[in-house]
Amino acid sequence: MIVAIDGPAGAGKSTIARALAEKLGFQLVDTGAMYRAVAFEAAAAGVDLHDAERVAEIARGLRFEFKFEDGENVIYCNTRALHQEIRSAEVSRNASVISAHPSVRRELVDQQRQVGRERSSVLEGRDIGTVVFPDAELKVYITASPAVRAKRRVEQMREGGEEVDEAEVLRDIVERDRRDSERDVAPLKKADDAIGIDSTEASVEEIVAGICERIAALR
Ligand code: C5P
Repeated sequence: MIVAIDGPAGAGKSTIARALAEKLGFQLVDTGAMYRAVAFEAAAAGVDLHDAERVAEIARGLRFEFKFEDGENVIYCNTRALHQEIRSAEVSRNASVISAHPSVRRELVDQQRQVGRERSSVLEGRDIGTVVFPDAELKVYITASPAVRAKRRVEQMREGGEEVDEAEVLRDIVERDRRDSERDVAPLKKADDAIGIDSTEASVEEIVAGICERIAALR
């Protein structure tokens, strides 16, 4: 079974997807982490992030796996675990830049399909329900107000030991939404058959329980 969870940055997707995957015993494929890993590796290799072909080449050389370890969903990139180094504001911005290249997306979408087909999975991202798995058994699109999303991101980054300015994070989020929604390939948008959930007021527990009820009804 495939559960697709899409939505903008900081909408609560990751927390909800993780709780859901753990509850269901499914694999969690964090596709944003894959774009982040490519941005991170490309920058480390000194590649110009606007050079689509060179960035796609980097992506082609990477193999991804996900494993739950100590309550964290860890991404392995060519057998190396990546943690906070792919969560900085700089990597967030760079991931949004490289994710607009069609050749990079093609490569990562292929890998997402392969990894997702290996076993029952929750996939979280921007285009899971629209492009990666348009036939997913359940599609969820999660949103929240930009102010709440910025606040959550700031908390996440502070937990990771990064000092950040909330106003700047909000500006970054609005800018990233614009880039992610306006790009030509696989823009951020709700699939017609996705359930829309606003996480501004609702708790993670309530949302996860609601999604589980829908999954139970499908089985
Ligand atoms: O979800 P996260 O914030 O980690 O994603 C980082 C960036 O990767 C997003 O801003 C977006 O540009 C890109 N992304 C994407 N498609 C996905 C997942 C992430 O374009 N399925």
